[in-house]
Amino acid sequence: MDGAALIRGAVGRRAFIQRAGWVGLGAVGVIGRGGSLGLGAIRPAAAAAGVREILLETRQVKWELAPGRSITAMAYNGRVPGPEIRVKEGERLRVVLKNSLDEPTTIHWHGMDVPNSMDGVPGITQEPVPAGGTFIYEFEARPAGTRWYHTHFQEHRQMDLGLVAPLIIEPVGGEPFRFDREHTLVLDDWATGTGPALPATREGVAGGRGEMGGMMSGMRGGMMGRGMGGMMGGGSQNMPAYDTMTINGKAYPATEPLRVRKGERVRLRLINASADHTHVMRLSGHQLRVTHTDGNPLVEGVAVDAVPIAPSERYDVLVNADRPGAWWLYCTQPGHAAAGEKVLVTYDGREARKPEAVTDGIAGLHLWHYALGQGRNVLPAASGIVRSFSQTLSGGMMGSDAWTINGKQYPSTDPIAVKRGERVRVRLGNMSMEAHPMHLHGQSFAVLGVNGQRLARPLIKDSVDVEGHMGAVEIEFAAHNTGDWFFHCHKPMHMEGGMITLVKIAE
Ligand code: C2O
Ligand code: CU
Repeated sequence: MDGAALIRGAVGRRAFIQRAGWVGLGAVGVIGRGGSLGLGAIRPAAAAAGVREILLETRQVKWELAPGRSITAMAYNGRVPGPEIRVKEGERLRVVLKNSLDEPTTIHWHGMDVPNSMDGVPGITQEPVPAGGTFIYEFEARPAGTRWYHTHFQEHRQMDLGLVAPLIIEPVGGEPFRFDREHTLVLDDWATGTGPALPATREGVAGGRGEMGGMMSGMRGGMMGRGMGGMMGGGSQNMPAYDTMTINGKAYPATEPLRVRKGERVRLRLINASADHTHVMRLSGHQLRVTHTDGNPLVEGVAVDAVPIAPSERYDVLVNADRPGAWWLYCTQPGHAAAGEKVLVTYDGREARKPEAVTDGIAGLHLWHYALGQGRNVLPAASGIVRSFSQTLSGGMMGSDAWTINGKQYPSTDPIAVKRGERVRVRLGNMSMEAHPMHLHGQSFAVLGVNGQRLARPLIKDSVDVEGHMGAVEIEFAAHNTGDWFFHCHKPMHMEGGMITLVKIAE
């Protein structure tokens, strides 16, 4: 984020709301043009009591993904993705949500340890905010890292239409990895009806099988196309035809080039807001050094050629800008770059250079996978007993839209009921053909093992991709945040098909 793009100011709450009004872009606080591909950034004004306040207005807008590809989107403050919110760890954040859609909505603060009543799950933690209504979210911004926020009302439709945005919490103790410049990149998939449908992501490529899984899905996408893949994977008949892939709300050629300078160390915050697709991101000519998983730092960076990112996952990576020229940052999944998921990275003074063409697929690339990383244990410690649970993920047979946990669909699924302080272990086994990025609200967890392999230093995450075809993951967390928390697959089709359970943490 270019510091110059952010204007800071302190106003009292009333003055603030008056000045902002509820009209126009609905943008309050301070919105500047960020360094991130023109992503709007809000560094909220500080109110008297040390509260940072922001107004977010949801409403329908016409949004141009690329020339000739305009859609009727739902947006926060008129832009897709919504404005990046940036605050310091521990600061109090007050977000006034004004719903100018003609239907209800809520906001979920993904990856944040918010109080249960601020979690944004309609029917569980709050009533949906009706059309024309207002709701005030207030919480302390923690933990530090690359987080995001999105609608949690009819996610399949509302997230697909654009109600997603980055939320960056800067650590108070200083950044564990030095960088000179940063860009936030929100990846998304769109069904616009303007092009051929892309193959769905099936087995997943993020977990312990790493390159094997990637090869399988790459081959399937490339050689068989969507029809066959759908039959084999048991893909749903009702899957929207995703045909456009965006970076910060734009598909190439509309993506805005990223500028770097020779010698810089550039941090990329990659957020996958897609409903269905895993993206395998690569910067040609460079390695990516993975430093954070879902916002949480690793012991040391892991250099790879490309990083698979399942829906709702985030990775922070560092790039050493040491090869002057022009390069593509793009997704290697078959067809994704052609569908818009690429952005030019140019070194200052080398703008005229022509980048080499992108190559689909991951043949010969060293891919990130969970077992490569060593997490730092940043989670609260448990004080109570160990409680173990096992969840079998199934569904999607013969194109069905039913998705189950231990054979049941939400709300009939059995909750994980524990007490505050207890150490909770959950083994997730995937009996279906498709990968499930499972996300826990309200607290992050440690990934203890993947596909039978123990992780010596567990990764800290809040979403974990459980690969298809018998993929298995074991997670553990100290139940420190009381309340009823959603634990669900982050593919909204699967979620709406029933793959949700509640983690109930009693005082
Ligand atoms: Cu980002 Cu319930 O999810
Ligand atoms: Cu799923």
